[in-house]
Amino acid sequence: MSLRIVAVSGSLKKINRTQQAVGILRHYLTEKKHEVKVIDLASFPLPFVDERPATDYPPEVQDLKSMIAAADGIILATPEYHNSLTGALKNAIDHLSEREFKGKPVALLSTAGGAVGVDSLNDMRLIMRSLHAVVIPRQVSIVHASQQFDEEGKLKDKSLETRLFEMADELVRFATLFKSDSQTEVVRWTR
Ligand SMILES: Cc1cc2nc3c(=O)[nH]c(=O)nc-3n(C[C@H](O)[C@H](O)[C@H](O)COP(=O)(O)O)c2cc1C
Repeated sequence: MSLRIVAVSGSLKKINRTQQAVGILRHYLTEKKHEVKVIDLASFPLPFVDERPATDYPPEVQDLKSMIAAADGIILATPEYHNSLTGALKNAIDHLSEREFKGKPVALLSTAGGAVGVDSLNDMRLIMRSLHAVVIPRQVSIVHASQQFDEEGKLKDKSLETRLFEMADELVRFATLFKSDSQTEVVRWTR
């Protein structure tokens, strides 16, 4: 079954490692015939959420909502910023609600400059709970990120690459289950 996967990449740097890791996932999933769209927040400008009516936001906000709403599975990727996700990714999520996320499987990925990148993953897991998404058990944190990629943007450590692929496979399994039988107990319960 071909799935629609949307990845949101939360670094605002023009060239960034989070986007490189998302690129690896995109390539892997595309090879398996899934449709993967990447929302790279570095080139997808979103204003901060404020009090204006929904119709007064620029079209990117509606595009974001439509893409997430249409997704069978979602990947959230962030650099670790002060032991959490980036403000840019949090703001993107703040534009969204249960309407887009409820009952959707979500995979989490972080990159970190230091030795630990798990706090951003935990924070994203907590945020997704509030939106009634179903975060899958596998998650990946690419620590010491500046040393992990070669000049072609591939991961040097093949065991780390395998972890990314295993997470992608698990996202596909969840998304396939949820999509293939909308009458299953778990899907009725989460939606
Ligand atoms: C504002 C800021 C805060 C950061 N905080 C952390 C941190 O708490 N822990 C850590 O390991 N790295 C931290 N870093 C380093 C980034 O996580 C690291 O450089 C990451 O790979 C950047 O990803 P990018 O290339 O996708 O932007 C921080 C970097 C910035 C700019």
